[in-house]
Amino acid sequence: MQTPLFVQIMHLDKRLTACADLVYGRTVADIGTDHAYIPIALVESGRCGRAFASDIHHGPVERARRNVAEHGLSEKITVLCVPGLQSTEFADCDDIVIAGMGGEMIASILKEGRDRIRANARLILQPMTKPERLRAYLWEHGYRTTDERAVYEGERIYQVFAAEQTGRNTPYTRAEALIGKRQEGDSAYAALVQKTIRTLTARTDAKQGAGRDAADERELIAQLEELL
Ligand SMILES: C[S@@+](CC[C@H](N)C(=O)[O-])C[C@H]1O[C@@H](n2cnc3c(N)ncnc32)[C@H](O)[C@@H]1O
Repeated sequence: MQTPLFVQIMHLDKRLTACADLVYGRTVADIGTDHAYIPIALVESGRCGRAFASDIHHGPVERARRNVAEHGLSEKITVLCVPGLQSTEFADCDDIVIAGMGGEMIASILKEGRDRIRANARLILQPMTKPERLRAYLWEHGYRTTDERAVYEGERIYQVFAAEQTGRNTPYTRAEALIGKRQEGDSAYAALVQKTIRTLTARTDAKQGAGRDAADERELIAQLEELL
């Protein structure tokens, strides 16, 4: 396809902006890219010189190809149709973004593709559900997590964080797996802990009200309160 004469400039929403902001390297892969908004924004702004936009399904891959072409970036962004990290191209990437999928799915992509991830690659992760499963995988497989961000959009809070290999496992509590470890100078952390406690308390009260055992949830709430 020809480079269009009038390229659109990509604007990301808050969730995707938070992911893009954590990309530090020059070559990035976006796994499960769908629309390819993150690679387009990163290359268009000059933050990255090269990118891979990859998805398992043909529909998203076609959408990504069309968007990349419309932005005149087909020579700098390679669009791939592969499951997870199953391409040798990813071994050259400084940063790997996996956003908008469940935490268990992201963990399984990382586990299956572990041989394709460079030792010093940075992972930028945004689990939509079960963040605790993803952090548990990372902390039990030699990664440390950094740059925890809570992104507020309407009623929703999205968790975004980075991970780097250290070769050492990290001890953790269930509460930390759920919302991340406290970071120096993170003023949003307390708000996230409080909101999580409120949500969990409402769910736990409803469970107990229905006559079901909620000891597990109560223990998790107590752990969360210790983080305040
Ligand atoms: C909800 S979209 C998220 C799109 C984008 N990353 C975002 O955060 O807005 C999830 C995408 O992941 C893709 N996907 C699901 N499982 C995948 C896998 N194992 N490997 C690659 N892509 C996958 C889906 O086809 C879909 O396009």
